Amino acid sequence: MCGIVGYIGSQNAVPILMEGLFRLEYRGYDSAGIAIISPAETRVFRRVGRVRELEASLPRRLTGKVGIGHTRWATHGPVTQANAHPQVSGDGRISVVHNGIIDNATELREGLQAKGETFGSETDTEVLAHLIARSAAPSLEDAVLDALAQIHGTYAIAIIDQRHPDRIVVARNGSPLIIGVGDREMFIASDLSALVRHTTSVVHLDDGELATVTATGFRTFSREEENTAKTPVSIDLDADDVDLAGHQHFMRKEILEQPASAERMLQGRLDERFGTARLDGLNLSPRDLRSFRRVKILGCGSAYYVGQIGAQLIEELARMPADAEPASEFRYRNPVIEPDTLYVAVSQSGETADTAFAVREVKRKGGQVVGLVNVVGSSIARECDGGIYLHAGPEIAVASTKALTHMAIGFAMLALVLGRVRDLSISDGQRIVAGLKALPGQIEQILADEPQIAEIAADLSAAESLFFIGRVRGFPVAREGAQKFKEVTYRHAEAYQASELKHGPLALIDKDLPTVAIVPDDELTDRNMGAIEQISARNGRVVLIANPGVPDCAADSRITVPKSARELDPILLVIPVQLMAYHAARTLGLDIDKPRNLAKSVTVE
Ligand code: AGP
Repeated sequence: MCGIVGYIGSQNAVPILMEGLFRLEYRGYDSAGIAIISPAETRVFRRVGRVRELEASLPRRLTGKVGIGHTRWATHGPVTQANAHPQVSGDGRISVVHNGIIDNATELREGLQAKGETFGSETDTEVLAHLIARSAAPSLEDAVLDALAQIHGTYAIAIIDQRHPDRIVVARNGSPLIIGVGDREMFIASDLSALVRHTTSVVHLDDGELATVTATGFRTFSREEENTAKTPVSIDLDADDVDLAGHQHFMRKEILEQPASAERMLQGRLDERFGTARLDGLNLSPRDLRSFRRVKILGCGSAYYVGQIGAQLIEELARMPADAEPASEFRYRNPVIEPDTLYVAVSQSGETADTAFAVREVKRKGGQVVGLVNVVGSSIARECDGGIYLHAGPEIAVASTKALTHMAIGFAMLALVLGRVRDLSISDGQRIVAGLKALPGQIEQILADEPQIAEIAADLSAAESLFFIGRVRGFPVAREGAQKFKEVTYRHAEAYQASELKHGPLALIDKDLPTVAIVPDDELTDRNMGAIEQISARNGRVVLIANPGVPDCAADSRITVPKSARELDPILLVIPVQLMAYHAARTLGLDIDKPRNLAKSVTVE
């Protein structure tokens, strides 16, 4: 969703801001803009559409040593140039970029209009620009504090002031903001990927925190005007990680990275001797782990589907009741928080608003929550009591792939640890450890079948609608398969439990509605075969994604996935559905990395 960049230093800010905006494109946006303080005036440029259109609209000789930029995902007001950010005060002195939503903007706007202010946009952000400009406070910082005292809502903001060209003032409440520390230059961003070319030394602002950023340093302080002590941390991110590196699409690049990234994630975390995993980041002793009686997993979209894989792994290996629920539902239903339940928040970005809110709700009611998060230092990672970093590396494509695989691996390790402090035997633990160790090589094997998967995907791309079916271990994989297909191909894809077909959806089966059947080689294989026979008997086409031991049955085509420990099978079965969605979208010539209407991290409700 919306993205923020900022620069102050001795270089020309314009190319730095533009590069940052290009890097934020993957988050999803509908308009973009920059504001630059050039010696005599603040110049603001905004455009609806892509960042390259904004770039093309800029005057050739535009220069300035301080500036802010933004990619906007419309919330208040339609997608128009006037509503794009930066938003400016009536006198043009104050420019603001803002991620988040100001809840009482309408009321504040009416109050300001009654005092004679006129508005050039329908945005909530413009209210903030007016409030700051109207403040009688002597410094920009005090004016910003005055304004923030009047607003309710979530924000990450960066502000520049024509009267104070030596600083950018930033603030955070519920939306991420990072300061990048350079040599006599400083950077601002809502997302690490926008900084990575310039610095690896960063400061994460906390909620309720503000900062004054100058070319030579920064000062962080609270809304009560007390200085807060912040030391820059080093980030383990390479510019190549956020580049295409010769690939046509990030989605494929990220799918292909999985053998190496999975290897990296497992490194040092498996204990073969005792058949368990080392997850120190959980901050839970064996005694703590034993004290939980249930596990509740909270995530959104695909993270929720992987949460279902996780819940099954925990039930199977630890024999504890476990379930997954969309965090977006959980947060609104006044959930009962149990002291002996371990809550697990799962999120690639660590910034998904619904999941972050669910975490806060659990904590507010005294529950214990750990995170499975990819982005180090993200809001959810920092709010949880402990957790497992996924170490998938940056994921740029909106459709998540490698991070999901890493979530599933993370859940397998968590299940192993919970199991080994209960009744999971050492030999069963060792069997799971061996299974985990083999995953990177097995993923490699699946990826080697890409040409065959691409052929099947090209064929499926012609169908208007598809079914993905699975049973028990296969069902969350089917859900993720349908989700991935929908996201990048815009085709209607629906997941069903194979067992549910006969209770209704079988009526839809005909030659035009293909089914992708996820069939692990396990105790339910025969039952799955029965469902496939029923589809085939009604002229339905079936693509089988199955382990080697599963017979072809009546399937029309087949993708064979190496066998793992039976509990781990879903982790491997999910890889072909990623490639299938990618190649179907490629056949259709779609914008694979930035599907319409979607954003990489959903930071608003
Ligand atoms: C996955 O392909 C989707 N883009 C989406 O469902 C995503 O998984 C969901 O929005 C949660 O995101 P998170 O993992 O960053 O919290």
